[in-house]
Amino acid sequence: MISIAIDGPAGAGKSTIAKRLSAEFGFIYVDTGALYRAVGLYALRQGLTQLNAQTVPPLLPQITVKLKFVDGLQRVFLNDQDVSEAIRQNEVSMAASDVSAIPAVREFLFELQRNIAKENNIVMDGRDIGTVVLPNADVKIFLTASPEVRAHRRHLELLEKGQSVDFQQLLEEIKTRDHNDSTRAVAPLKQAEDAVLVDSSDLTLEEAVSAAADTV
Ligand code: DC
Repeated sequence: MISIAIDGPAGAGKSTIAKRLSAEFGFIYVDTGALYRAVGLYALRQGLTQLNAQTVPPLLPQITVKLKFVDGLQRVFLNDQDVSEAIRQNEVSMAASDVSAIPAVREFLFELQRNIAKENNIVMDGRDIGTVVLPNADVKIFLTASPEVRAHRRHLELLEKGQSVDFQQLLEEIKTRDHNDSTRAVAPLKQAEDAVLVDSSDLTLEEAVSAAADTV
């Protein structure tokens, strides 16, 4: 099986590029952030306001997260309910970042990610795919962009979905998430030594897709 790992911070364009590559090569696209989002969503739905190593692990035995692929596109199921749209709400982003710092949550989701890669040709995106989940991936890309460019893209994306969020607030959230994701003790966001860096700050979408496809 062939694996292409794409890591990088929120809003760098990982999912757009991963989708394009997976369509081009006929691979399955696996968005691992969705798994952390599903756990975060569950914790929010249980009414938790503090998401930490004391409050979240006791919930894990109540949770099953499954991925299904329809025409190569991923749907996420939380206890057999399709939450593919619900996990995209903006408040779920921070919850996902919070739960992703908890070692028990990372362990809980690890095998699921590994098993998909064992059985399929995949493009998998996340934060620790090239470093932890698939250290032997055939291709590793680290995709980044400046926080301002990423906040601007996220702003447009949310507006298109009819959610209006203040730009400054988004920028602050992106910076906070970058900080959380890259300073946590377990599997922090960082470029694998053998990953190719693509900085999309000054690239159009097409240019960024070409840079990634050339790397593959
Ligand atoms: O890619 P995303 O924004 O949907 O991810 C949501 C959160 O999940 C992100 O803040 C960090 C976490 N995450 C992670 O820790 N490891 C991954 N492989 C993917 C996401």
